Amino acid sequence: MSKTGRDLSEVDLESLWHPLTQHSQLAASPPLVIDSASGSFLYDRNGRRWLDAVSGLWCVNVGHGRTELAEVARGQMEKLAYVPATMSHESSVLLARKILDLLGFDGKVYFAVSGSEANEAAFKIARQYHRQTPGGAGRYKIIGRIRSYHGNTLGALSASGQEERRRGYEPLAPGFLNVEAPDSYRVSADCAAALEGAILAEGADSVAAFVMEPVIAGGGVLLPPKDYLPRVREICDRHGVLLILDEVVTGFGRTGRWFGHQHWGVEPDILTLAKGIASGYMPLAATVVRQRIFEAFLAEPGGFEHYRHVNTYGGHPVATAVALRNLEIVEREGLVERAAEMGRRLLGSLQSRLDHPQVGDVRGLGLLVGIELVQDRATREPLSSDDAARVVKRCAQEGVIVGRTINTAPGLSNVLIVAPPFTLSDEEAEFLVGTLEAALTKELGAGVRG
Ligand SMILES: Cc1ncc(COP(=O)(O)O)c(C=O)c1O
Repeated sequence: MSKTGRDLSEVDLESLWHPLTQHSQLAASPPLVIDSASGSFLYDRNGRRWLDAVSGLWCVNVGHGRTELAEVARGQMEKLAYVPATMSHESSVLLARKILDLLGFDGKVYFAVSGSEANEAAFKIARQYHRQTPGGAGRYKIIGRIRSYHGNTLGALSASGQEERRRGYEPLAPGFLNVEAPDSYRVSADCAAALEGAILAEGADSVAAFVMEPVIAGGGVLLPPKDYLPRVREICDRHGVLLILDEVVTGFGRTGRWFGHQHWGVEPDILTLAKGIASGYMPLAATVVRQRIFEAFLAEPGGFEHYRHVNTYGGHPVATAVALRNLEIVEREGLVERAAEMGRRLLGSLQSRLDHPQVGDVRGLGLLVGIELVQDRATREPLSSDDAARVVKRCAQEGVIVGRTINTAPGLSNVLIVAPPFTLSDEEAEFLVGTLEAALTKELGAGVRG
């Protein structure tokens, strides 16, 4: 029951617009109404529980129900609930410092509220940087990658390579293009060479930046080959193109290192962060730039060289205070190391136990795992969206929430996604793997070609 005395689901149907949801089906299949959460579990009002194997939207890295974070939020609200980012306050200063220390390079941190906005900020910084750098005035194009996602706002969507997310919202922003991304299961092309080809074809002096996720997350958990990132770095340097790494998902430990790029020893010019920064306890994002980028914005006052971009809630005192304590928890409990170790074990266990004809590939890094479902292992024809959806639904019925690629690339709504909190216990991991194993057999048993 809701406070209106009516059934909450009924009021939901009447009032809420859910993302990525066909509402014509909602009455028959209403969303779960979650009332509380603790550790790795979500609970409804009747005490029924689900293992949250996607950490919300891959963001609740320290697990649910941390009262310590609630206390920090309360304390900060009582002391100073709001001040604009044109002023300063302790937690945003300390958080910026902390992020730079974790990254290990000099630079500046600009705070925003969402990952999309952090990427918008990155694109604007890249363009303005070039305009204010000798020889760079003509550089404005941003190259992104097919299957990558950078956000829902028009610029971030234009950089994204997810055809089904873009459809219907065109025309998108001009000046964006995509190149192919590595996909060890489906793409054999030399994707670093494809990037260089695109830069040359466009004219390097028109290209401002290349943006990529170190591991494509929502597009299907796609890992690059070992030499891809180092080659991308070299290509960007050779052609004066800035490298923007979107670490909205991979930042703050998800892949088993503090930042995804640290797996490949490659540093970005600009880095975007969100999700794990505050483990979803508050909305917060950041755009980090190297010092040399920042210095292009220094000039005599009175001109337009400074960064002319503002968010009302960027660097919100409550969000930054909570983020700071969240990172303290990650350090104190050794959760990055734990994500690496538990990630290795979980991946191994999924690879050996999900030995089902419709499982084509199980891949991952840290606690970010993709399970690609196919009609046929030999042809790698993707499993239909409906069949993959049945597996996800069955898992939910059995008490485990897993994710799935939906509306990303045409025909590829077939990758299940597992990205649990870093605090996942062995017992919870066993429950997750066992449930997936059983769901595949129950839903796809003998019913699918293969
Ligand atoms: C890699 C990546 N970048 C950017 C975004 C956009 O973040 P937000 O939803 O906070 O705007 C997402 C969201 O899932 C993402 O996965």
